[in-house]
Amino acid sequence: MTRTMAPAMLIAVLSALIAGTDGLHIQGFPGGSVGPGFVSVPISASKRDAALHKRADVSGTAEIQIPNFRTHGYSIELMIGTPGQKVEVIVDTGSYELWVNPDCDHSSRAKNETIDGRPTATLDTPMTDPDACRKRGQYDASKSSSASKPDGVEDTVFQYADFTTAEISYEKDKLAIGGLSIDGQIFGVAKTSNQTGVGIMGFGPPPWGFNNSGMYPMVLTSMAREGVIKSPAFSLHLNDFNKSQGSVIFGGVDKKKFSGALAKIPMKPVQMKSSNGIDFDHTSYYVTVKSMKLSKPGSSDKTYGSFVAALDSGSSNNILPRGLGAQLCTDVGGKMNSRGTNCAVDCAVRQQAGGVTFELEGKSILVPYYNLINEETTREVSWCTVMVSDHPTLNLLGMPFLRSAYAVFDWRNANLHIAQSADCGTNIVAIGSGVDAVPGGNGECSGSLGMASVVNLGLMTVAALMSSLVLVL
Ligand SMILES: *[C@@H]1O[C@H](CO)[C@@H](O)[C@H](O)[C@H]1NC(C)=O
Ligand SMILES: *[C@@H]1O[C@H](CO)[C@@H](O)[C@H](O)[C@H]1NC(C)=O
Ligand SMILES: *[C@@H]1O[C@H](CO)[C@@H](O)[C@H](O)[C@H]1NC(C)=O
Ligand SMILES: *[C@@H]1O[C@H](CO)[C@@H](O)[C@H](O)[C@H]1NC(C)=O
Repeated sequence: MTRTMAPAMLIAVLSALIAGTDGLHIQGFPGGSVGPGFVSVPISASKRDAALHKRADVSGTAEIQIPNFRTHGYSIELMIGTPGQKVEVIVDTGSYELWVNPDCDHSSRAKNETIDGRPTATLDTPMTDPDACRKRGQYDASKSSSASKPDGVEDTVFQYADFTTAEISYEKDKLAIGGLSIDGQIFGVAKTSNQTGVGIMGFGPPPWGFNNSGMYPMVLTSMAREGVIKSPAFSLHLNDFNKSQGSVIFGGVDKKKFSGALAKIPMKPVQMKSSNGIDFDHTSYYVTVKSMKLSKPGSSDKTYGSFVAALDSGSSNNILPRGLGAQLCTDVGGKMNSRGTNCAVDCAVRQQAGGVTFELEGKSILVPYYNLINEETTREVSWCTVMVSDHPTLNLLGMPFLRSAYAVFDWRNANLHIAQSADCGTNIVAIGSGVDAVPGGNGECSGSLGMASVVNLGLMTVAALMSSLVLVL
């Protein structure tokens, strides 16, 4: 999910005071594990509940009215307050703020709305379904003995690239994540929100920089400042499409979750973009894709040109430069709908060897077809969607890419460390401090992937955003 800041946020950023955290404690946490210098937290892959499906008659070529976006989301559990109150939040590398308590009455996607004359989605997903939202838990500061109001942090309105909006006020309370708790973490509590039934935990770089100066500390920064992790760095492993669990490790790298070398790539946190003549900064994890190569059995490889894109675990699609998404859809064997938002494909394609190889600067990641193509099943029918679309300026390597990558985000050194994802056990090594904090070397899984050959919108105005259709979660 990529987020824009409404003007109120600019005021909040300018007027916010620097506030600190008060201390860290270790405690038991279901599913999490704490080791020397790291904490590992399970990520759940949320799939659409069959009950939410409408029957789709998919021939593989028909234009289907099932929204392919946001079918899956990746979330973690937090415990906030004393005693701890459990809440679930989306893991979003495309934004930076943590907020909880979505408005369940408005969590449904807008029905029959149009943006640029084009209709938006019409069905709910597990991430937007009001009933699912009500079961996820809400934080109540009045029931926490450790809650307080932080000074000088003003209410803020956030708008994300898919028009999800949240107006939040700030609380300060104990926050436990994967068995580690931080006293006095500042985070958002929604006063109003729409289009999401899950709060959001931004894992992206804040617009004021990786070193987090001038604002209250993000969760990652709090952990590093308190010394429980040695560097502000975390590893993200969404895992394959058909696995139900991945992990995020603060301060550690799991050498049994990737194969081959963990390559170091300097990150470009700020990408200048221009939309309709309005310049804006977008702070995110930008990488250069030098080329994209499609390989499938029985045909020669096809290579596509370079572009810059942000790593965004909140985006269901890989969003490619204009024309490229549609081209890739066709080349994979799918058919793009007239709106350019949904690429239906025969499910047999998921089983093919090969996939799309993204050549980054110094590392290539193969996204196999089974991670690029989502399959959804009801009792009667299943249908498949190539998770690609187009956008002229906002290009994202979303869930399909990140399912195939093991990514370590090192804020201190502004480096991305990336390898081909795998899953062959657990061997977590702590990330140290300093310039070479992230342990290099090869992963401990063998790298056999079929026929694989290799391998804020800070100043963007809402008006500029409205000018282009982006459906991103
Ligand atoms: C979401 O809420 C914002 C702020 O209240 C509003 O401007 C926007 O139109 C709402 N969007 C939808 C799709 O309801
Ligand atoms: C959306 O539009 C369809 C077709 O015009 C209509 O049947 C349906 O009731 C509308 N839904 C809402 C929530 O307005
Ligand atoms: C996931 O799907 C792929 C392709 O169908 C298959 O090769 C792999 O074994 C599956 N993994 C699991 C855990 O089901
Ligand atoms: C963050 O601060 C440290 C210590 O001052 C400095 O060495 C490092 O280069 C900074 N990192 C970034 C990404 O600015």
